Amino acid sequence: MQVKKVGILGCGLMGSGIVEVCAKAGYEVVVREVNDQFLKKGLERLEGSLGTAVEKGKLRKEDRDAARARVRGTTNVADLADSDVVIEAIIEDRVQKREIWAEIGKVVRREALLATNTSSIPLSSLAPATGNPTRFLGLHFMNPVPVMKLVEIVLGIQTTDETLAEGKAFIESLGKTTITAKDTPGFVINVILVPYLCEAVRLVEAGVASPEDVDKGMELGCGVPMGPIKLLDFVGLDTTLAIAEVLSSEFKDPRYAPPPLLRRMVESGFMGKKSGRGFYDYSKKGK
Ligand code: CAA
Repeated sequence: MQVKKVGILGCGLMGSGIVEVCAKAGYEVVVREVNDQFLKKGLERLEGSLGTAVEKGKLRKEDRDAARARVRGTTNVADLADSDVVIEAIIEDRVQKREIWAEIGKVVRREALLATNTSSIPLSSLAPATGNPTRFLGLHFMNPVPVMKLVEIVLGIQTTDETLAEGKAFIESLGKTTITAKDTPGFVINVILVPYLCEAVRLVEAGVASPEDVDKGMELGCGVPMGPIKLLDFVGLDTTLAIAEVLSSEFKDPRYAPPPLLRRMVESGFMGKKSGRGFYDYSKKGK
């Protein structure tokens, strides 16, 4: 399969990053958001990140302009119909993911590669909605997508070897490395990462240590680039809560249950960096 056009569903934190790496790799990209406001915000995020890449000396100005020119935004799912690869990166909600897959599945070409960026939802619960489960697989990008080198490939029960090989070749064409996981809750990364993040919240919740000390402990004590509370703010408290809910309901094991404080923060609208406040304050005042 020769990939020319990539269709991306969702232009949020992950979607806009996936748009960026695909456009930089030379693919024509069509990205769909639910309305003009979300689309505008997503494309602004893309432009901001491309600008940062230029500032950091990772991208030439002319390559930034060429990458931006390859991206078209839309609010119409049918505009993705002639894509060679479709990547869905909408919110971590099983029902909404099934709905969008049912919609795109009806219009996209039979030979297209169909990928979800889900971070925890079992592929088997989404695959039937695509209408083409043998061509369906998980391509789980890491945040920030333009910087992190890994993409976790997840194999559904019906994903064929050919689909896996094409998915791997496509990801390598973006300059990224892959690992492969079977369709189990949380796959490899999040079954390790999310309990770690939740454990950090439990320490803060129990008053054992401040968020700053938990982060300092892990950064200086264990050499992680970002402490768990900062990382939680960065990934999004809502996204982490959604993943913890999936792990908890799939494994029925209390160690995966999201801590009440995480839920209370999400209910209060504290989603982390993207909403201006999580455990830390990202407003002008807080900065
Ligand atoms: N485009 C291209 N490169 C960029 C860039 C951009 N927009 N922004 C930064 N970079 C590059 C920088 O040039 C730099 O490269 P070098 O190391 O070659 O100099 C590198 O990225 C690091 O950037 P900075 O020095 O500006 O920033 P930093 O040192 O503060 O690192 C970070 C920022 C990369 C986010 C780092 O803190 C980090 O790795 N944090 C952990 C992130 C992580 O764990 N992500 C996974 C989350 S889990 C997930 O995503 C899965 C899920 O389902 C929840």
